[in-house]
Amino acid sequence: MDSTAVAAAHPNIALIKYWGNRDDALRIPQNGSISMTLAGLRTVTRVRFGDDLPSDSVVLHGAPATGEARARVTRHLDLIRQVAGLTARAEVVSASDFPTAAGLASSASGFAALTVAAAHAAGLNLSATDLSRLARRGSGSACRSIFGGFVEWAAGRDDQTSYAAPLAPADHWPLVDVVAVVSTDEKDVGSSEGHRLAATSPLQAPRLAGAEARLAACRTAIRDRDFPALAAIVEQDSDLMHAVMESSNPPLRYRLPVSLGLISAVRGWRAGGQAVCTTLDAGPNVHCLCPAAQAPAIERQLMDVAGVIRVISAPVGAGARRLAETDPLTGLL
Ligand code: PMV
Repeated sequence: MDSTAVAAAHPNIALIKYWGNRDDALRIPQNGSISMTLAGLRTVTRVRFGDDLPSDSVVLHGAPATGEARARVTRHLDLIRQVAGLTARAEVVSASDFPTAAGLASSASGFAALTVAAAHAAGLNLSATDLSRLARRGSGSACRSIFGGFVEWAAGRDDQTSYAAPLAPADHWPLVDVVAVVSTDEKDVGSSEGHRLAATSPLQAPRLAGAEARLAACRTAIRDRDFPALAAIVEQDSDLMHAVMESSNPPLRYRLPVSLGLISAVRGWRAGGQAVCTTLDAGPNVHCLCPAAQAPAIERQLMDVAGVIRVISAPVGAGARRLAETDPLTGLL
């Protein structure tokens, strides 16, 4: 065979976080999560399955991937080969237009784009739900990036029941994620390892006990476009996840002093009447969520804070999709 497909996907920012698995191998989470998919930031991936290829090759950001990064992609290709009944090896080329491995969810857009491109190249014609289940096996949060807008990943109990679905379309509520980038260093401990440590924190059980109530509050806030309610639940949920991380054994500290300063600054801006709140994934960069009309002011204010390297604004965006070879986005590769 000789078959190629290209796909694009966006990262997502979790409003209610996923942290800790019931099943690490299958990436079945201990709690459900809600996110918004981010336009503007992209990963583009081309996959070619060819009988002429002696082994899988993986090029990430212009350089051949090695070690665990390559192995993770190869395992995902194996899964797709298994579903499609294929043996052909693959050539994978992928690039993103934003800093990777710094709490900007590059694994979410990466595995969503890889899943869509590889499934098409393998000749599979899968539903979005099937693609979400498969993307989850590569990186849990990738199952949410299959969809655009506001997305909920129902935890489920097994491979069949754990997948994401849209909650509301992108145009339901024009929010923007204004990301204050304070570091672009690769993180020391990635989220796959972090999920395994969650159970070592005495705070994980109480965090999980309240997850259903926080999911319900977040769904209602999105449905009603109620920013104060969203801000309260999003900040609390992020604080709970970081409390679990920081009290794990060994502890994981993703929040840097500059991140904590930004969280306080944003709380002050909100107290002063601006609609803006913060959330952090597994990295030090501070995601400031606000209605689109507020975004230019928030960008300016963030740039004035010492330690902010750069500000990236991402509105709510579309789900993962196949691209034509002629699409200008393939220029990223
Ligand atoms: O999908 P993973 O294994 O990279 O885990 C993502 C974990 C967080 O980004 C911290 C939270 C989330 O729900 O996206």
